[in-house]
Amino acid sequence: MGDRHLIPTKSNCGQTNTDDDIGDPYSQATDYLLDLLVSLNPHLVADVGCGDAGVTFDVAQVLPYDTTLYAIDHDPTVFDPPFGEHTRAHCTITTLVQEVNELTLPTEVDVLFCRFLLLNLATPLAAVERMRQWVRPSGHLVLMEPITSTGRVEGHPLSVGTDEIANPDIGLRLCELLAAVGVSEPSIAAFTPVGLGGSLAGRYLAAMTGVDPDPASFVSLPTLVLACGQLQ
Ligand SMILES: C[S@@+](CC[C@H](N)C(=O)[O-])C[C@H]1O[C@@H](n2cnc3c(N)ncnc32)[C@H](O)[C@@H]1O
Repeated sequence: MGDRHLIPTKSNCGQTNTDDDIGDPYSQATDYLLDLLVSLNPHLVADVGCGDAGVTFDVAQVLPYDTTLYAIDHDPTVFDPPFGEHTRAHCTITTLVQEVNELTLPTEVDVLFCRFLLLNLATPLAAVERMRQWVRPSGHLVLMEPITSTGRVEGHPLSVGTDEIANPDIGLRLCELLAAVGVSEPSIAAFTPVGLGGSLAGRYLAAMTGVDPDPASFVSLPTLVLACGQLQ
């Protein structure tokens, strides 16, 4: 199995939903996140480690016009071209170039979320502690991260370049991380795209790894976990 990345990392950030030729096998997970965010009825939202083509614009499309979405990334190049040039957004997007461990928002937010961020960090708890500081009391912290090692083709584990990923199975630790910042009963959901070799899951695997699975092979992509906790 190839060693190129099957999930978004520093080097292939945003590829789950930008390559329209392939489609996004994680769209069910994205839809769940969007529904969750809308249901929380927030006015101030932060997307930390937003990247250049992640869920930021999807979120901006479903939030009402009077919502402000802070899009934060430590890499200034993700905002080139400027997010303002994307016209699909409904709500106001304010971009900030910041390191998560030094996160400093203009104000506390109602909801702060990150997706495919913690897997890249050497000290994910430090990041969660910092993010937690910027969520208002009774606000929500939403973490969406993979369990990379669950990927399989015909029962065989996938090699997905985990050497470059600090925490490939961080999805297993989301409840632990939320508990460490005072969230005792988070809601949890998990998404595992599956299909035969010719399905969306198989085509995504081929596009991301360069390995074309046999049409009859059962493909199971890495599980993506979402954990949402309300702060005290
Ligand atoms: C794999 S991409 C995910 C992008 C988007 N959240 C998504 O779901 O598609 C990870 C992003 O986190 C950013 N990032 C990584 N470490 C960071 C840190 N310490 N502080 C802020 N952003 C960081 C990277 O620059 C990158 O844009």
